[in-house]
Amino acid sequence: MSDLLTVILAAGKGTRMKSDLTKVLHPVAGQTMLSHVIKTVDEFAGEIVCVVGHQAKKVKESITADNIHFVEQQEQLGTGHAVKQAEKYIEKHKGPVLILYGDTPLLRSETVSQLVERHQNLEADLTVLTAILTNPTGYGRIVRKENEYVEAVIEEDDAEQSIKEIKEINSGVYCIDSQLLYEFLQNMDTDNAQQEYYLTDIIAYADAKDLISCPMLINDQTEIVGINDRATLAKAEKILRERINLKHMKNGVTIIDPATTYIDADIEIGKDTVIYPFVYLENATQIGENCIIGPHSRLQEARLADDVELLEHSIIRKSSIGTNTIVGPFAYLRPGCNIGENCKVGDFVELKKAQVGNGAKVPHLSYVGDAEIGENTNIGAGTIFANYDGVNKHRTSIGNNVFIGSNTVLVAPVKIGLEAKTGAGSVVTKDVSPGETVVGVPAHKYSKEKN
Ligand code: UD1
Ligand code: MG
Repeated sequence: MSDLLTVILAAGKGTRMKSDLTKVLHPVAGQTMLSHVIKTVDEFAGEIVCVVGHQAKKVKESITADNIHFVEQQEQLGTGHAVKQAEKYIEKHKGPVLILYGDTPLLRSETVSQLVERHQNLEADLTVLTAILTNPTGYGRIVRKENEYVEAVIEEDDAEQSIKEIKEINSGVYCIDSQLLYEFLQNMDTDNAQQEYYLTDIIAYADAKDLISCPMLINDQTEIVGINDRATLAKAEKILRERINLKHMKNGVTIIDPATTYIDADIEIGKDTVIYPFVYLENATQIGENCIIGPHSRLQEARLADDVELLEHSIIRKSSIGTNTIVGPFAYLRPGCNIGENCKVGDFVELKKAQVGNGAKVPHLSYVGDAEIGENTNIGAGTIFANYDGVNKHRTSIGNNVFIGSNTVLVAPVKIGLEAKTGAGSVVTKDVSPGETVVGVPAHKYSKEKN
């Protein structure tokens, strides 16, 4: 399939979405519709031309792959007109052109590659992916000839009652001989209810020239859902999430209640990990083997090693957690935290830009911001890292094997040397030397005689 050219249409506004955001940028399972479509064809697409128009700049910026050409459709005059914008690529291409719409994120790779193969094996002039729907409203209908080839696609708005009763619909995925396509683009018109250049008219055009349009009927109709409004967006979201959950379960992940587990498309989870209900795994989160993700937790760009236990109602954002560490319940890790191995971050603890050494513990009711905590150090209940002086943020650095007493306030910038201690309720404003114990407000060196 090396001689393929792929054109993806993504210029339309998506008026029926009633949104300030252009349609193809709406996310489904954490990724834009358009990126799902690109991922679907990635492996066999050949050169990809993406037709952008509405919010073109935003659409271009949303795509990270660098093997994609963009062409702009200034005015959205229909799907045929959109393809015409890629004309210079089509003209010089010899072989089939794969066309997809950017609003069909549920298409599977295998289906599209099968379509291309079939097109090539049958030496068809055009092959169109079709589906039979119990409610085909809104889709273009497939009109077949007696010999089962396709004679025309008729849009809902142009269809008379007998056509509307046809249940077989056009998915918007086609493989078309480049020469036929190029010729059609020079000859299409807007003689229809919407006064648009319909790409779908190419089928009647081919038929008039005695060229062959083959249908390929899909088994799983959910794949071809074209998203035009928010209700369909929600349906697609549900379908995609079911597929994602199933994939992880097949890989050995226990999902206690798939119906209430929300895993984005790009998440990695190791085997024997158990996921409780109402968990959200988002933004390229990676979870190791044998972890427990407690109920009502939300992970965004989180990296969890093996054997991590996350207790209920915890939020982890852009942070990593080492092997055998327990976090939560009700813990909030804000971006930039790296928690070591065998640590404990307990209930009602908030951390931000905090590096926590192996074996360290922050068990209860603390705020740890802009800090390093050494190995095996214990941070007592209620400790606050006062990192903000009203103007600037400052760092706190704590050595190994330190004991911070309950309710200590560490006024940054401050350093606590290894094996030092602070008494309960102390307010530490100056550095503490290794092995030293400080107490009081402001904290001073502890001596048995004075205290
Ligand atoms: C289209 C098909 C219909 C099919 C359905 C499948 C046509 C005329 N109709 O209808 O037969 O059943 O998809 O989902 O092709 N776009 C542009 N520029 C434009 C117009 C559209 O780039 O000027 C893009 C849109 O961004 C979208 C795609 O083309 O990604 C499809 O457009 P849309 O308006 O959703 O077409 P449908 O009415 O759904
Ligand atoms: Mg559509």
